[in-house]
Amino acid sequence: MYVCLCYGVTDTHIREAVATQGVCSMRQLRQTLGVAGQCGQCGKHAHCVLKECLQKLPEDYHVQPSKKDLPILQPNLALEVA
Ligand code: FES
Repeated sequence: MYVCLCYGVTDTHIREAVATQGVCSMRQLRQTLGVAGQCGQCGKHAHCVLKECLQKLPEDYHVQPSKKDLPILQPNLALEVA
C-alpha cells in the first residue's frame, strides 16, 4: 500500500529500509526514502508503519535512535543584567 504519494513509497519500502538499512527514525526515513519530505501528508501514516516495523524486530535488533535524532540543547546564553 502506498504511504507517500509524492515519492511513491509503499509500506514495503519502509519495511525494507528498516530491515536492510537500519532506519529507525522519521528523520532517517525522510533522508533515505524522502517520506514526508514534500507535502508532509504521509507523516502520520509513515510514522505508524515505522513504529510497527520497529516493534516487530527481535529484541536483539532494537536500535536506539542516534544522537543526531535527539533535540540539540543549546546553552542558555542569556546574560543577567545586574
Ligand atoms: S505524500 Fe509524502 S511527502 Fe507528500
